[in-house]
Amino acid sequence: MTTNVILLGPPGAGKGTQAKTLAERTLLTHVASGDLFRAALREGTELGMLAKSYMDRGELVPDEVVIRMILERIKAPDCELGVIFDGFPRTREQAVALGASMAAHNSKIDGVLYLSVPNDVLLRRIAGRQTCKTCGATFNIYYFPSHKPGICDACGGKLYQRSDDSMETAQHRLDVYFAQTMPLIEHYQRQAILYEIDGQREITWVNEAMLRALSQFMVTSAQPKE
Ligand code: AP5
Repeated sequence: MTTNVILLGPPGAGKGTQAKTLAERTLLTHVASGDLFRAALREGTELGMLAKSYMDRGELVPDEVVIRMILERIKAPDCELGVIFDGFPRTREQAVALGASMAAHNSKIDGVLYLSVPNDVLLRRIAGRQTCKTCGATFNIYYFPSHKPGICDACGGKLYQRSDDSMETAQHRLDVYFAQTMPLIEHYQRQAILYEIDGQREITWVNEAMLRALSQFMVTSAQPKE
C-alpha cells in the first residue's frame, strides 16, 4: 500500500519548505520537479540546459519533458511507500498523465494539500529566499535569515539567490501559475481530495495543519512519526 500526496500552490507558497519536513516525519519520498531540473543543470545534462531556458524566463518546461522525467523518477525503489509531489503536476495534461500512470500501477493520488498565500506575501518570500548551494536548505532575509549573512546555518555552505527569483521573473511565474496551474484546484476538488491550508501562517503551524490533513488519508504504514 502506498500513499501519494501532491503539494499544490503558487511559487513561494512554502511547498519545498513543507515537503522536506513532511518527508522527514513520514516514510514518503519528496519528489520536486524544480529540484530535479536544477540538479540536471548542475550535472550539465541536456535536460538541465533545456529546462534552464524555460526556468530563467519563468515559463513552464514542456509537459512531455516533465511528465517523462517524473514518471521515471517515481519508478525508483525509494518511492515504493509513496511520494510527496512538489511542483508537479502544474498543468491539466500533467495531472491527467500522473493519474493514468498511477491507475496503471494500481495506485492513486490520495490527497492534494493546497497552500493558499496572498500575492504580496509570495513576492516578498521569493525576493528574500536564499538557498544553500551544498545542502539545499532555504533561508529568508526577511523572515529567518541565516546567523552569518550568506552562510548556511546547517552545513556552512554558501547561500545563493535562484536565477528565477528576480522580481520580474517571479511576477511572471505567478501569472503562469494563475493561468496554467490554478485550474488544478477545481480538478482535484471535483475528486474530493483537495485540502486547503492557510500557507500565510508560521512554518510550524502550516506543518502541523498538513500533518493533520495527511493523517486523514494516509495508510497506516506511512503515518507521521511522533
Ligand atoms: P519550482 O522549483 O517548482 O518553483 P516554484 O513552484 O515556483 O516554487 P518555489 O520553489 O518558488 O516555492 P515553494 O512553494 O517551494 O516555496 P519555498 O518553500 O521555497 O519551479 C521552478 C521552475 O521549474 C518553474 O518556473 C518551471 O520553469 C520549472 N518547473 C518545475 N516544475 C515544473 C512542472 N511541473 N512543469 C513545468 N515546468 C516546471 O519558500 C519560499 C520562501 O519563503 C523561502 O525563503 C522560505 O524559507 C520562505 N517560507 C516558506 N514558508 C514560509 C512561511 N510559512 N512563513 C514565512 N516564510 C516562509
